[in-house]
Amino acid sequence: MTTARKLDIGVLKRLTIRCISETGWFDTDTVFGDIREAGGAETDQYAIPWPPLGTLHADNAAGFSALLEAEQIDGSVRRLLFDTGWNPAWMDRRFAEEGIDRLLREGEIEALIISHEHFDHFWGIGSTLKHCPGITVYVPEGFHEAGFDLIRQQGHTGSVVTVAADQPQILFRGLALVSFSMNTLLKVGGENVLYAHLHDRGIAMVTGCGHGGVLNLLDYARQHFVGGERIHALYGGLHIAPLDDWDEARDHIINGLRGYHIDKLACNHCTGRTAVEKMLEIGLPVQRGTARNGSQTDLFLGNGDVLELG
Ligand SMILES: [Fe+2]
Ligand SMILES: [Fe+2]
Repeated sequence: MTTARKLDIGVLKRLTIRCISETGWFDTDTVFGDIREAGGAETDQYAIPWPPLGTLHADNAAGFSALLEAEQIDGSVRRLLFDTGWNPAWMDRRFAEEGIDRLLREGEIEALIISHEHFDHFWGIGSTLKHCPGITVYVPEGFHEAGFDLIRQQGHTGSVVTVAADQPQILFRGLALVSFSMNTLLKVGGENVLYAHLHDRGIAMVTGCGHGGVLNLLDYARQHFVGGERIHALYGGLHIAPLDDWDEARDHIINGLRGYHIDKLACNHCTGRTAVEKMLEIGLPVQRGTARNGSQTDLFLGNGDVLELG
């Protein structure tokens, strides 16, 4: 594909990503026990009475959410919330500790991007809407009616935008949103991924779980965006070994990442500790965290840690 056919999304001067929470839950055995009990991996997630639908193992529930602060070339700053976590009690606490509640109330965050419908990224939407009920919400193609119902039930008064698969939307200069078709655990389909183009640096990719496969998602940037031949950074869950099991296919992914010459690899959440240890072993530039605010390891960027790009 020639450069002329690639999409120019514009450039950003700077992008700051604040990890509000990457802890989907505290104990993996408990979550997967709940899923087994409900009927297994093919169960409809809305049949499981986790918060806010019920109180099942509420203390185990946390959630994934990040604040993106993008500085444009003219100096103006745009903010987005990327996912809204799971347990409202946990998200309320983390939003207060990071000042997200105030930013929402003051209208300083222009949209909530839902990466995908999984409970740990989306069910905590009440914690966002209680401060800013009119916020524009983006969901990927494939969202279920029960998901739209939850948004309404939690008090949303604004517009909901369903992002059509494989049709990049430029949210503002330097930042594009792409919805990918995929089907995964608990009948969830479709995932939104953000791509920022940083001036003189290259592309930064932001994922919730990266269920579409990190190498595929990076290749998308290479093939479709001006500047995509340079991947500067990556933030979010990469779903390589969330249960820390290992096989050759996973080695192939880790080794494949080397070929992109990424400058900053800020993977966390469902990437898996074993996967991150292996990345460090082969010298990939994993951004280490501080293991605060409920994050259980300093191997990768955790709750309250910040990634500065640009
Ligand atoms: Fe997740
Ligand atoms: Fe997920």
